[in-house]
Amino acid sequence: MDTTIKKILEGTYVGKEVTIKGWVEKSRSHGKVHFLHITDRSTKDAIQTVARFDQLTGELFKIISNLGVQSSVSFDGLVKEDNRAPGGYEIQINNLRVIQDVRDYPLANLEKKKYEGDPEKEFLRDNRHLDIRNPRPYTILKIRQDVIDASRVYLRDILDFKEINPPMLVSTICEAVRETENGKPKKKVDIKKTMEDAKRLVEEQFPDKDIDYLRKYVSDMKGNVSDLIFVEKPYFTKYYFGKIAALTVSGQLEMEAAMYANGSVFGVDPSFRAEKSRTPRHLTEFWQVEPEVAFADHEDNLKLQEDLVTYVVKTVAEKRKKELEFLGRDIKPLQKIEPHFERIIYTEAIDMLQKAGYDIKWGDDLGAPHEKFISLKNDKPTFIEKYPANIKPFYMQPDPKNPDVALCADLMAPEGYGEVIGGSQRIHDLKLLEQRIKEYKLNPVDYQWYIDLRKYGSVPHSGFGMGVERLTMWICHLDDIQETALFPRTSRRLSP
Ligand code: 4AD
Ligand code: MG
Repeated sequence: MDTTIKKILEGTYVGKEVTIKGWVEKSRSHGKVHFLHITDRSTKDAIQTVARFDQLTGELFKIISNLGVQSSVSFDGLVKEDNRAPGGYEIQINNLRVIQDVRDYPLANLEKKKYEGDPEKEFLRDNRHLDIRNPRPYTILKIRQDVIDASRVYLRDILDFKEINPPMLVSTICEAVRETENGKPKKKVDIKKTMEDAKRLVEEQFPDKDIDYLRKYVSDMKGNVSDLIFVEKPYFTKYYFGKIAALTVSGQLEMEAAMYANGSVFGVDPSFRAEKSRTPRHLTEFWQVEPEVAFADHEDNLKLQEDLVTYVVKTVAEKRKKELEFLGRDIKPLQKIEPHFERIIYTEAIDMLQKAGYDIKWGDDLGAPHEKFISLKNDKPTFIEKYPANIKPFYMQPDPKNPDVALCADLMAPEGYGEVIGGSQRIHDLKLLEQRIKEYKLNPVDYQWYIDLRKYGSVPHSGFGMGVERLTMWICHLDDIQETALFPRTSRRLSP
């Protein structure tokens, strides 16, 4: 009967004749006995199969003995319990059909050490389409999916939030930040110079497209630099039927509209950032879990983050205990995660960092070393709250007690991992939002629909974005975020 290796390794097929379709992972010979380790991807583990010269035709034994790694086969055999075999079970091959015999698999015979940051890492990245067949990527990608699944179970099934998919192509940039240096405008925009820059940038970015039209488009912007911000900032832009569109950096703005229509909502969607930064925590394409909740204030927002992170981490740590152990992850730190998470006000964080000798002052954004320092303070995640409004995006609600800071928080994962969530209470007052859009030099025409949300039934509301790959990286205790994506996208990698 047809079955899977996963089921055989669970022990339900002992003494039975089975048929398996799969791939050769390893092959080794002991004279008249030949062992093939065969995988069918139902589990990361292969099953040991044994072919005996005296039980098969000479021709078939020869074919089996010569099969290369990754050859695809279908075979029939008898399942036996054998505690010398990895996993405790073995299949004795009675017949085998070759689907494709492979001779020259580039990743054959690589040692396990290849994963430990040696030069072979790049070789594996260049062969990611094949490397994902190995047990380690297989396991990490499975856990990444579990992070998404657990988030869905918590938000959709337990809290009854509705899942909605926001668009990826937008004209409204979500994470637009102010052109500032320490809270003051960085430079006066020189419209003439900016226009020249824009023309150059547009030509660079759209070399094959209707340049005359784009030139005119830029000239027609006159004093309005908002579209230039589009071209200059770290967004992927595209000529879009006579306009410039961007790939979204976050589904938040659209989720806010959905929240007014559907109640508490969340999205599980990709975000795109054209940042050049090459760090072990940055991808140009990553996924976020983004809830948006009506009538929720900053406090409610932090509470939801604590509950969601706790649920996801606990669920995954429990369900994937074996897999995490396989990755070398000590799961004890994960088992300790539970509400409440410590909160540090941004101003206190700056004090702490200064005392520890970091060159940082109030108004600066926190970089990776700063986040790491805070992240190592606690066994559990830590919120850094109330950043200066000036270094955060336009939509964040100012703290009524001190409007220079925003009602926002970034959640730092422990063990040195740093930011895994960014969130805030959103501005719900029409005048204030209009003022901010002006201050951030955004084009009110593009944001008209978003402004409308403050005209028709506006209520205080909050939300956040949890980075799927960042959370997976922490849960699996990885050094490099690229391991968490099927095909990681960075400024240097678009293929494979
Ligand atoms: O802090 P960010 O930029 O916040 C937003 O995009 C909000 N609009 C989300 C919201 O409120 N709905 O990004 C949110 C999270 C970060 O905390 C981080 O986990 C992840 O997304 N993230 C990245 N992950 C990988 N590579 C990058 N370049 C990332 N940038 C952000
Ligand atoms: Mg952030």
